[in-house]
Amino acid sequence: MHELKALIKGRIGRSVICLDTVDSTNTFAMELGGRDAEHGTAVIAERQTKGKGRLGREWASPPGRNIAMSVLLRPSMPIREVTLLTVMASVACCRTLREATGLSVTIKWPNDLMVGGRKVGGILTEMKSAAERMIFAVIGIGINLNSEPADFPPDVRATATSVKTETGREHSKTLVIAGICNELESWYEVLVSKGRQPLLDEWRNLSSMLGKPVSVATGKETLRGIAKDIDDQGMLILELPSGAAVTLRAGDVTALRERE
Ligand code: BTN
Repeated sequence: MHELKALIKGRIGRSVICLDTVDSTNTFAMELGGRDAEHGTAVIAERQTKGKGRLGREWASPPGRNIAMSVLLRPSMPIREVTLLTVMASVACCRTLREATGLSVTIKWPNDLMVGGRKVGGILTEMKSAAERMIFAVIGIGINLNSEPADFPPDVRATATSVKTETGREHSKTLVIAGICNELESWYEVLVSKGRQPLLDEWRNLSSMLGKPVSVATGKETLRGIAKDIDDQGMLILELPSGAAVTLRAGDVTALRERE
């Protein structure tokens, strides 16, 4: 904890709560948000008993080996811009992992961190709002850092990986957590002072799928097309075979081979 604090450069991560076991760091941080905890407070747990993933899924991570953290933010922004916070967190985590591990980590819309086609981390943003304004937001970050293939539940083993599996060595949780907090701090400042464009440009740089054929399962239907871009609010612009463009708020993207 002291070691982590010494590495923190700004407000994000200056106040840290380290827990051994919690249901979900996101749930814990949402409660803190309702109790006036300060902007930038980070909650880190060794073990989650009810880790939450996107689209109501469970997020499993073996005790101790991976990163489960949530950061409380108090941005002054309309609720329709909440996706920008997920974009910001994807950029911050992707850059940190590249720098700390040397791996070619990329972002798969909306929030998956990928290495060689497998998922190495994910982000879940939640918020509390009133009258169209955000009161606070919680960015939940799960990184498969030092887990082994056998640690993953059988249903995700084929699609998940860890930094250790990819690099063949263990990595310091403290250094990666500090790196993420500091990158979040810088990109939050960029977002507040310069607006969303620099952030969206960096997201495009780090993305693995723009210009490529993909299928997107939205829950209602599965659409195929070319992943053209993300719009100003972080939504995916998909060009359908007819040439028409649709804008998608959420979904699961799968890369297709060029001929599919
Ligand atoms: C995804 O489905 O890709 C998002 C996964 C987010 C997992 C993290 S782990 C820390 C934080 N607490 C949670 O309950 N979920 C997020």
